Amino acid sequence: MRRFLAALLLWALILPAAAQAKVYESTMILVNKQNSLPSDYVPGDLSRPNVTYAPGVPESRKQMREEAARALEAMFSAALEDGIGFMAISGYRSYWTQHDIYYTRLKEAGEAHVSLYVAQPGKSEHQTGLAMDLGIEGYLDLSERFADTDAYRWLSEHAHEYGFIIRYPQDGVEETGYAFEPWHVRYLGVQAADVWARGLTLEAWYRQKLAASHLLRKRSFRLYKPLG
Ligand code: DAL
Ligand code: ZN
Repeated sequence: MRRFLAALLLWALILPAAAQAKVYESTMILVNKQNSLPSDYVPGDLSRPNVTYAPGVPESRKQMREEAARALEAMFSAALEDGIGFMAISGYRSYWTQHDIYYTRLKEAGEAHVSLYVAQPGKSEHQTGLAMDLGIEGYLDLSERFADTDAYRWLSEHAHEYGFIIRYPQDGVEETGYAFEPWHVRYLGVQAADVWARGLTLEAWYRQKLAASHLLRKRSFRLYKPLG
């Protein structure tokens, strides 16, 4: 234990902040009620997607990480060709922006509501720069009504082709900790197609991967254990 703590201290002292930030920069990062980001984590490659925004979106919340921003542009263009005019509502949010949103909503709506709809500061995917809330004209209020639109049906069928998943699906509360949020998409990159094809939440997908890698290790142990 002492050796572990010494190594941890050394790691914290020696590794420059930029290198520590890299730990959080995989597009597959899992941020949820159990896995938080530090308050000073800001993605290093924020960029403003060239898409249509809902009226009044603050500039700072229009951003996403570079790769996610380009993928969002591709997804919005493809949707538009199919007659669907998505509008972006809320992308990157700093720890402190999330802090303000969380405590404002807590005061307005109470604990039961926020625990299902608003992440505590440090626990929001919006801080990763990989999430975007979106809607269409007439459905920009981040409500479940959006799920009854062709736009949502398009998203359910095609988001993974652009590296996105619908992060908080219907009936996913036991896995994700959040109610159905048809408006919240999360960029994963190539693995989005696998998560989509298996019909899993990101939490369940990670659990399956861990179980599989554990099985693999056990099997290779058996394979290579000298016989007799
Ligand atoms: N609405 C999601 C859970 C967030 O606040 O990050
Ligand atoms: Zn969201």
